[in-house]
Amino acid sequence: MSRRIVVGGAGELAPGQRKLAFIDGRSIVLFNIAGTLHAIDNTCPHNGAALSSGQLEGCMLRCPAHGLRFDVRTGCMAGTGGLSVTTFPVEIMNSKVVVSLDEPNATPSHERDATTNQETERCKA
Ligand code: FES
Repeated sequence: MSRRIVVGGAGELAPGQRKLAFIDGRSIVLFNIAGTLHAIDNTCPHNGAALSSGQLEGCMLRCPAHGLRFDVRTGCMAGTGGLSVTTFPVEIMNSKVVVSLDEPNATPSHERDATTNQETERCKA
């Protein structure tokens, strides 16, 4: 089950801009890339650096710590490293930007591990 959280107004983020949102102890980065909004977890899956200050090249975000690159549309790392950053669905509802989050603790840990494995497999495809 997921929750929808309002993180701002629809016109607040112009193309090329980004914004940090803090929701339930999570740090999430929103990007407007050519008019389309994307949301990812702010934590790099490599070693935990904040991705929010990373350099954006098209849809690829470079982690400021060690330079790994992630596609903000899919969360997948460039190349064959197999890491992926969590992405969140974003939509505009009633002129608000809304991010969908999984309910905390809604998924047992063994099922979350399976989800992580599925995402890793998705990025390999
Ligand atoms: S912490 Fe992001 S690439 Fe190492």
